[in-house]
Amino acid sequence: MTTSPPAARSETKTGTRVCALLSCLEKRLADAGVDSPGLDARLILAVVLGCDRAHLHAHPEKMVFPEELARVESLAQRRMAREPMAYIMGEREFWSMSLLVSPGVLIPRPETELLVERAVALLGKKGQSRILDLCAGSGAVGLAVASELPKARVTLLDLCSKALGVARRNAERLGFGSRTGLLVSDLFGVLAKGDEFDLIASNPPYVATGELDGLMPEVSSFEPRIALDGGADGMDLIRRIIEEAPAYLARGGFLLIEMDPRQMTEAEALSEEQGSYRSARRHNDLAGRERVLELQGA
Ligand SMILES: C[S@@+](CC[C@H](N)C(=O)[O-])C[C@H]1O[C@@H](n2cnc3c(N)ncnc32)[C@H](O)[C@@H]1O
Repeated sequence: MTTSPPAARSETKTGTRVCALLSCLEKRLADAGVDSPGLDARLILAVVLGCDRAHLHAHPEKMVFPEELARVESLAQRRMAREPMAYIMGEREFWSMSLLVSPGVLIPRPETELLVERAVALLGKKGQSRILDLCAGSGAVGLAVASELPKARVTLLDLCSKALGVARRNAERLGFGSRTGLLVSDLFGVLAKGDEFDLIASNPPYVATGELDGLMPEVSSFEPRIALDGGADGMDLIRRIIEEAPAYLARGGFLLIEMDPRQMTEAEALSEEQGSYRSARRHNDLAGRERVLELQGA
């Protein structure tokens, strides 16, 4: 008895069946080291066919035609080169919002939702809060807080104008354009003396330079270095933020900083040395790791 590979068995002159294409694609992605090959194969096929993944599951016999196959192949090649799915799809979900992302910005991570959770918990009962998203990237943190606090005014600062362009498009797309201000700035540099915020939230670059090349290829080869590289020990920006933030905090205002759990003890010691904070609390992410340092100004 002769056997042929699944893709070949289902190929016809006019195309390939969904089920055969998916199993072939999943295997090629797995061979390339992709860690979620089944999911990514379905996402690629769904985007090319303009349907959702449930539709693929319900119609495994559906034919995929040559033009669609060419598009699938081009997206699959990108994923096999380990480009992140979020860049291939052009969006990523964060705090139940769909955010545009492109290679100029960090892809928002689930653990960063802890910054939003804390901001909403701290400001929830306040009316017109002034919020600063420092190192805003795609705008994920500031825009998620804006979605929860309809009267809040949010300022988003980032050193990278390309990232701010993406944040601006996200703000407009989500309908927050009128209560968001976006500015290119080296940390607080662009702010005027006397500018004050009830809450400053920041997810700065905090990976140690020497650890960058050891990250997954999706991160080390595709995400912007400026969004990741925190200097020799990863603490360059964290140090500056802890030192400079009190000048921009309203009385009793809060500073939230995301960091690597290994940086928490030093960051808390720095906040004590700084002398302008009245309290410090650590918060764990969903994996149980200390991820956010919460400091309250005097
Ligand atoms: C880890 S990413 C965070 C992006 C976004 N807030 C998020 O959580 O998905 C860090 C961001 O800091 C920005 N950045 C790096 N150095 C900066 C600086 N000196 N001042 C302001 N932003 C900076 C990068 O461009 C990048 O967008």
